[in-house]
Amino acid sequence: MEKKVTVLPGDGIGPEVVASAVKVLQAIGKKFHHTFHIAYATIGGAAIDQHGDPLPQETIELCEESDAVLLGAVGGPKWDHNTAELRPEKGLLRIRKHFDLFSNLRPVQAIPSLIKSSPLKDDLVKEVDLLIVRELTGGLYFGEPRKRTNEEAIDSLVYSRLEIERIVENAFELARVRRGKLTSVDKANVLETSRLWRQIVDEKKAQYPDVEVEHSLVDSTAMKLITNPGAYDVLVTENMFGDILSDEASVITGSLGVLPSASIRSDNFGLYEPVHGSAPEIAGKGIANPAATILSVAMMLRYSFGLKEEATEIEHAVNAAFNDGFFTSDLATSGNQALTTDEWTEKVLNKIDPSFVSDSIITTYI
Ligand code: IPM
Ligand code: MN
Repeated sequence: MEKKVTVLPGDGIGPEVVASAVKVLQAIGKKFHHTFHIAYATIGGAAIDQHGDPLPQETIELCEESDAVLLGAVGGPKWDHNTAELRPEKGLLRIRKHFDLFSNLRPVQAIPSLIKSSPLKDDLVKEVDLLIVRELTGGLYFGEPRKRTNEEAIDSLVYSRLEIERIVENAFELARVRRGKLTSVDKANVLETSRLWRQIVDEKKAQYPDVEVEHSLVDSTAMKLITNPGAYDVLVTENMFGDILSDEASVITGSLGVLPSASIRSDNFGLYEPVHGSAPEIAGKGIANPAATILSVAMMLRYSFGLKEEATEIEHAVNAAFNDGFFTSDLATSGNQALTTDEWTEKVLNKIDPSFVSDSIITTYI
């Protein structure tokens, strides 16, 4: 297989974690005889500094020519006081909208060797294997009208039937190949958009008799995610609820540093990025945890390229590195020495290819 991947390192620790993930992608290519052509472009604060635009036209064009996009992270204190259009986050919102990446998948799975890092009790965490399916291109983030004066501000929560149908169908399909349980999260006791959402879920469920469906209000879901996270399989929800619940879910298993995400279009083109942000306080030190970005590459292989075996290989390599007691500083406990980003990446590369030597990876540019 031959694929083009655009890499957008972004800000903070973004460049460091994507460098690791690209090495892993190339190692998988070598092992399974695929060619991944890698090209780099700017986004976020880095793009504002270089081009005066958080999503320059040339970045859009490069992504349009590619089969998938890998993104590091955007944002940092340097740009916090910029106007709305010149904030790094705006680059992320625009790329999601431009490429119609409506389906955001955020899996949260217990990793046995990391359970001790969770703030929750071991027993609650060890069964956790859930997937948040967040609608990503509608709702409050993009609704019109939108305005602000000194006296009044408006954000609009708008959803069309088609926008709800496609994300709900996507979630049913995913639930069907997992444990067959779908929780649709809304605020139907208050919001009209949620009532339409609930109605559409009910209409669709006849097509998926093999999937057990429940409706759950977002406030009580937020509570149950912490008191009984093992009860969930697939959760589907609108943009803002998904944003909040996925940050909440990210602490269940212990570390934000290990959570990947995928933002996918209906033809499987996708953008893959770690759930964590740019962590400016540790940027440039070579100590960031690249696991989430490496696992995002696994999601790219699975969802955009249909390479399931290769994806599983990466996931096993990451788990094996943790099981062997190798951790970066965010996860290392007093008994374990913390590895640098590069050292930890080499452990993963060694699991994929035991004969791996650092300079055997050739990066190809297009
Ligand atoms: C996320 C982030 C973004 C969002 C921000 C950076 C715009 O929090 O990907 O969850 O709110 O979607
Ligand atoms: Mn978020």
